[in-house]
Amino acid sequence: LKRVRTRHFQQAKENGIKITGLTSYECLSASVFDDAGIDFLLVGDSAGNTVFGYDTTIPVTVDELIPLTAAVVRAVNRALVIADMPFGSYENGPDQALSTAIRFMKETGCHAVKCEGGVRSSKQIKRIVRAGIPVMGHVGFTPQSEHGLGGHIIQGRGDDGAEQLLADAHAVEDAGAFAVVLEMVPSEVAGQVTRELTIPTISVGAGPQCDGQLMVWTDWAGFTSGRIPRFVKQYADLAGTLKQAALSYREEVEAGIYPGPEHEYGA
Ligand code: KIV
Ligand code: NA
Repeated sequence: LKRVRTRHFQQAKENGIKITGLTSYECLSASVFDDAGIDFLLVGDSAGNTVFGYDTTIPVTVDELIPLTAAVVRAVNRALVIADMPFGSYENGPDQALSTAIRFMKETGCHAVKCEGGVRSSKQIKRIVRAGIPVMGHVGFTPQSEHGLGGHIIQGRGDDGAEQLLADAHAVEDAGAFAVVLEMVPSEVAGQVTRELTIPTISVGAGPQCDGQLMVWTDWAGFTSGRIPRFVKQYADLAGTLKQAALSYREEVEAGIYPGPEHEYGA
């Protein structure tokens, strides 16, 4: 089983083969997704919401993400594992960004890192890439700057928005990133970015013209409670399945049905 490498992302774009990614935060889901042939697993700072129970990704730290990333790396044989650099771990400049990326590489065994921001993060991306660490960029809606952007707002709308998005995407490519996430961007604009860039674009709510797709796995599997963004398609009803299982378990324990004879140890 051949490991997915960043050069395979490039080949996929050139051959018109779509790239699939999911987030993952622990070994069990990672192993299942790897077996299913998902090309890359992002240990996203979305763990703030999906693992740690924060309202945003802003409080998430490197120390919180490192054990999750290491667990995902241990579980996969094929998928490329990408560590998401959390808010505050690269904004101070290229030196800080490289130090953070090196921590993820050494302490988790991940294969690449991701950071948010186009033009504003290009110096950081360049420094990390020059050290031999692949970087995935992330432009459009960037959750770590939700307050600066004024909320969960579609990016790249209107002439000015499209121009800014294109500038950000080009800045990421020019800095040496191997791929770039476009989050919550109109499909047409994402299509234009995808045609203009030589590196693959990965859609998170950026439509079908991108070179690949990525979703937060707990949203995608119907595990997340609460509001799910419009772009997410729910491929399972994990919350419903688990709730039903918990209800059945409680009923059976209360009724003396579980454990049955087949679950007991003899003397
Ligand atoms: O943290 C995350 O899961 C992400 C993706 C949704 C792009 O950054
Ligand atoms: Na993220």
